[in-house]
Amino acid sequence: MDLRFYQRKRIFVTGHTGFKGSWLCRMLIGAGAIVTGYSLDPPTAPDLFSHADLAPHMTDVRGDIRDFATLWQAFSQARPEIVLHLAAQPIVRESYRDPLGTYETNVMGTVHLLECVRRAKAEGWAPRSVLNVTTDKVYQNREWCWGYREDEPLDGFDPYSNSKSCSELVTHSYKSSFFADGSVAISTARAGNVIGGGDFAVDRIIPDCLRAVEKGQPIAVRNPHSTRPYQHVLEPLAVYLMIAQKQYEDGRFQGYYNVGPDECDCLTTGELVDLFCRTWGEDARWENRAEANAPHEANFLKLDCSLLKSTFGWKPRWHMAECMAMTCRFGKVWLAGGDIAGEMDEEIRNFLAEQSEK
Ligand SMILES: NC(=O)c1ccc[n+]([C@@H]2O[C@H](COP(=O)([O-])OP(=O)(O)OC[C@H]3O[C@@H](n4cnc5c(N)ncnc54)[C@H](O)[C@@H]3O)[C@@H](O)[C@H]2O)c1
Repeated sequence: MDLRFYQRKRIFVTGHTGFKGSWLCRMLIGAGAIVTGYSLDPPTAPDLFSHADLAPHMTDVRGDIRDFATLWQAFSQARPEIVLHLAAQPIVRESYRDPLGTYETNVMGTVHLLECVRRAKAEGWAPRSVLNVTTDKVYQNREWCWGYREDEPLDGFDPYSNSKSCSELVTHSYKSSFFADGSVAISTARAGNVIGGGDFAVDRIIPDCLRAVEKGQPIAVRNPHSTRPYQHVLEPLAVYLMIAQKQYEDGRFQGYYNVGPDECDCLTTGELVDLFCRTWGEDARWENRAEANAPHEANFLKLDCSLLKSTFGWKPRWHMAECMAMTCRFGKVWLAGGDIAGEMDEEIRNFLAEQSEK
């Protein structure tokens, strides 16, 4: 895979000020794409977006996905050929604190975006390829040892997971109701947890690790025994770009795709933090701080990615040791006040080079 396809393509990215969105825009800008981003301000402070040298190289629109009129204005001005929808309230614990805001953003945000596509089609122009980024948490979690397949029931437990299940269903309805003629190819991608440099979210494990080592404190781990499919952030982003390209070129590739690591990289949070401490070195260490009355979170979650593999010949590129090496390297550049955009470009180059060699 290389990104030459994206040169001079007009791309509309929602959620561009977030963790994944910043990395994605860096990839697209490096490929020569014409990028418009639509999001609220960065969700964290500090944030990756302002350190990634993105704003001068793209159209950076700040707006709420719940505000259809403003979204449509940005969308119709950008006239995208490809749409990548990442804007969301993505934190499980925050969804317990604010279920209403989470559903409004994650469900109505998807409706608004697809409504823009429908309206563009009615006006005689429309993007040819749309990708809705959901999550591995969309499935009804049965706490079993098998990976979930794309055709299993969508019924996330907590408001975040469930709002993403709803976002999937909204996508299904728009596809069959308005785009069954094949004029616009629409897919969803259900990715697992990602790690990588530049994530500062609260209630996520790698940002928690970095905050602790920066202060010289032990890392507090809430759920050391829960198993998650972890990947480097570049892994799903490359898949999003691959699906968006393939379905642009041939609408028969549109579908619903799981994106996750191989079995060997589904770790417990405790194992992940062990690996972080070994890779970081110095005095990094962690403590079990399981909470007695913590809100429910799934304990065991794995994805079956056979569909993605058999359709596109895809396989994950970086195993956990490499992912953690990159994440810690980035963290050290960050703490030293180094060149963040340069570090991102180098990681992207290494990742893509590895893809094309195998
Ligand atoms: N990070 C992960 O491990 C992970 C795993 C699976 C899926 N995802 C999905 O990937 C996407 C991006 O996640 P992330 O980790 O980069 O999250 P993030 O919180 O870093 O970024 C979220 C982005 O959405 C924007 N946003 C939030 N509410 C908005 C609103 N009302 N209107 C407009 N923009 C709004 C934010 O400004 C930001 O740009 C989300 O859809 C998330 O559900 C993330």
